[in-house]
Amino acid sequence: MSFDADIITLFPELFPGPLGASVIGRGLAENLWSLRTHQLREFASDKHRTVDDTPAGGGPGMVLRADVLARAIDHVSPETDTRPRLLMSPRGEPLTQNLVREFAGEAGLVIVCGRFEGVDQRVIDSRNLREVSIGDYVLAGGEVAAMVLLEAVVRLLPGVLGKAESHADESHESGLLEYPHYTRPAIFEGQTIPDVLTSGDHGKVDDWRQSESEKLTRLRRPDLWAKRHKD
Ligand code: ADE
Repeated sequence: MSFDADIITLFPELFPGPLGASVIGRGLAENLWSLRTHQLREFASDKHRTVDDTPAGGGPGMVLRADVLARAIDHVSPETDTRPRLLMSPRGEPLTQNLVREFAGEAGLVIVCGRFEGVDQRVIDSRNLREVSIGDYVLAGGEVAAMVLLEAVVRLLPGVLGKAESHADESHESGLLEYPHYTRPAIFEGQTIPDVLTSGDHGKVDDWRQSESEKLTRLRRPDLWAKRHKD
């Protein structure tokens, strides 16, 4: 079973970038997932390979043309393709670990990286693009956002992380932030390791980690803490 990612972008040379390194890159080399990029400009119809135009109604910036993007999407993802089609966009639904888990269960993803002021709404509607945002700030384009999303998804695919790197205790898997970690040396600049962690009592270690996780979440992320007691 593989996970096939197709990226539609004006900057295919940015890929795989960080997705070629470490465990994600090893997974790519081992065909646990695949990555194909498509230059949007190749789907333009004029000799200048124009992909954008001025916004209807006026205003600043340029808008990605519906016809050019539709041709690219239809080439990459015909109607029979069951993979979700995403558009990286600051006005999209927020990317969360729940959404990441959902995408990791798919056969792959088709990801459109926006640039310019926006994308013609008609192609978003007709090609069923699901808009996804990686946070409440504005990037210059969707490429880095697509890499963030893919890195989070690919590390959940079977075989990508070794057994040693378990998911269970990670921040956001349980709705809590992760507890603090320590390793040798036993004393660093006069600071010791909490006694419970060197006590050998696994029950007590688990209790301590749980209570540290709760304390951190309450303090740093009252929004997550409140959600946890609602669900
Ligand atoms: N493109 C520009 N800003 C973005 C964001 N915050 N998330 C996803 N795509 C974007």
